[in-house]
Amino acid sequence: MCGIVGYIGDKRAQEILTSGLRRLEYRGYDSAGIATLNGQGDITLLRKKGKVAELDLAIEKNETGDAVGIGHTRWATHGEPSERNAHPHTVGDITLVHNGIIENYKDLKSVLEDRKYTFQSDTDSEVLAALIDSIYQSQDEKELLGAVAEALDLAVGAYGIAVLTPKQPDQIIVARKGSPLLLGVDEGEVYIGSDASAILGHTDQIIYLKDGEIGRCSRDGVELFDINAQPVEPIIEKLEMDLHAIQKKGYDHFLLKEINEQADTLRSTLAGRINHSEGSVQLGGPGLSSDELRDLKNIIIVGCGTAYYAGQLASYYIEQLTTDVAIQVEIASELRYRSFNVSEHSVALIVSQSGETADTLACLQELKRRGVRTIGVVNAVGSTIAREVDSGIYLHVGAEISVASTKAFTSQVAAMVLFGITIAQAKGTSPQLIQEFIDEIIQLPEQISAVIKTHSGDIKQFASKYKSYEHSLFVGRDTLFPVALEGALKLKEISYIQAEGYASGELKHGPIALIDDRFFEVALLADNWLYDKSASNIAEVNSRGGHILTVTNTTKEVDSESLLRIDTKLEHMLPLLFNVTLQLFAYYVALERGNDVDQPRNLAKSVTVE
Ligand code: BG6
Repeated sequence: MCGIVGYIGDKRAQEILTSGLRRLEYRGYDSAGIATLNGQGDITLLRKKGKVAELDLAIEKNETGDAVGIGHTRWATHGEPSERNAHPHTVGDITLVHNGIIENYKDLKSVLEDRKYTFQSDTDSEVLAALIDSIYQSQDEKELLGAVAEALDLAVGAYGIAVLTPKQPDQIIVARKGSPLLLGVDEGEVYIGSDASAILGHTDQIIYLKDGEIGRCSRDGVELFDINAQPVEPIIEKLEMDLHAIQKKGYDHFLLKEINEQADTLRSTLAGRINHSEGSVQLGGPGLSSDELRDLKNIIIVGCGTAYYAGQLASYYIEQLTTDVAIQVEIASELRYRSFNVSEHSVALIVSQSGETADTLACLQELKRRGVRTIGVVNAVGSTIAREVDSGIYLHVGAEISVASTKAFTSQVAAMVLFGITIAQAKGTSPQLIQEFIDEIIQLPEQISAVIKTHSGDIKQFASKYKSYEHSLFVGRDTLFPVALEGALKLKEISYIQAEGYASGELKHGPIALIDDRFFEVALLADNWLYDKSASNIAEVNSRGGHILTVTNTTKEVDSESLLRIDTKLEHMLPLLFNVTLQLFAYYVALERGNDVDQPRNLAKSVTVE
């Protein structure tokens, strides 16, 4: 996914556009560019491969006072990261920035080549710009909005776009389908952004563009039209987030800040939802009656990446809390194209931090089409998934800026555990277990702070010890298996070490063949009813000369090359505690390897394209 920005008003656009792009950089950082327009219709186009910092240097040499402009930071889909493929793209009188994918761009391109259009880049976006230009040129009365609407009728795919032309320098046309787009309105000016962080600090009056809407932004404000070019009354909402939420607060990296603030962010997720003295949970969001909760028979949990692993861990807890609810956890990009069957009394939990991930959104739309009640487990307020689900649970963890997801994982699991408890309450199952879960989840924030305080130093040393390996295996049993998967994902995402998560019992059925000096292993060992089984799996690896870092809460002797002992009485919530240690481990290994921990290569915070 990419980040797009825009501005029309009386301030210096170059500054507003680049500060917006810097805040959206977690959406993609392969190239960046802006195009600004002065009142006489002169365009200043500046594009650079790489980060916004490169673009800043170009702007220093090409400063303008222009007060109209659009900008883009790219996550490459079509065409390699390069200046040639960077946005904005200009074709004829049209300059455009695009977030999304035009699936039929090849067909459109050959039609346009027949009309003598030539192309400078390999991107689908430039083809869209050419299509708009060809329609614009064919108009008697030059009318940009009409040309854009007609072109979008011919395009297939997802888009968030901002378009301008020197022929009509007093407006910017915006449109969205599938990719998010917000407008910030204030007296005599309009701000455009792919998400709220680009507009924060400028205005808190926001218009969330809906799918199929197209808008004209000018100094007079915003005119909105629906897919049939019928005027739509813009709905202005107040932005609840403040600038603080997207600052590092003194930490070196957003990732370290977001790991360290988990005790507080988890408290925000739990706030007002647990009655400890009564031993009960109230969750208004899902909006299911106690009859509906009691009759529930099947839960489909859908997500991508870390959200998918959070769903996996939560499924173990909901199974423990209920006796007759089946749970299927699905990778969104697979489920959306599968002919899956849905049984009666089912609900779907749609798990997404950003609320914009295309595959997860598509599953939501398919499940709704099949009449399944959809409940969002979402962090980003006002995001597309949050607005399209039937009901939902907000995480309230604040903006998560670092591309690798951390605080959202802990709160996604906690939110789904709370949902599981509401089902158990309605079904009258295992009151004892409900009390245990509530007691532990209430203690978890404190325990997370204690683990970070006590063990950051140890974890840093282990990271230094294992930083040079290129291969690793993470193993865990039962609720620690999803944590092994998530821990391996974190290490992959930011250290670029090849890491696999495995169920401990699965090792001997193949992966144990990999064990040699090129690999290190991270073993998650809970001092519970499966202790002996897990300990013997560690022994199997040891006997093949494995280099094992064991994370455990046992006081027993453990034969392991490295050992991280966590002093805790938690049992059910232990996996969430262990997971924080793996987040820190990945962070320190990535740091030792000199990687950009907040913006790792080839990744983006959430992917709004397929
Ligand atoms: C990836 C992010 O793009 O999307 C991951 O890099 C994230 O961190 C995954 O887990 C899913 O994102 P979301 O926003 O739908 O939870």
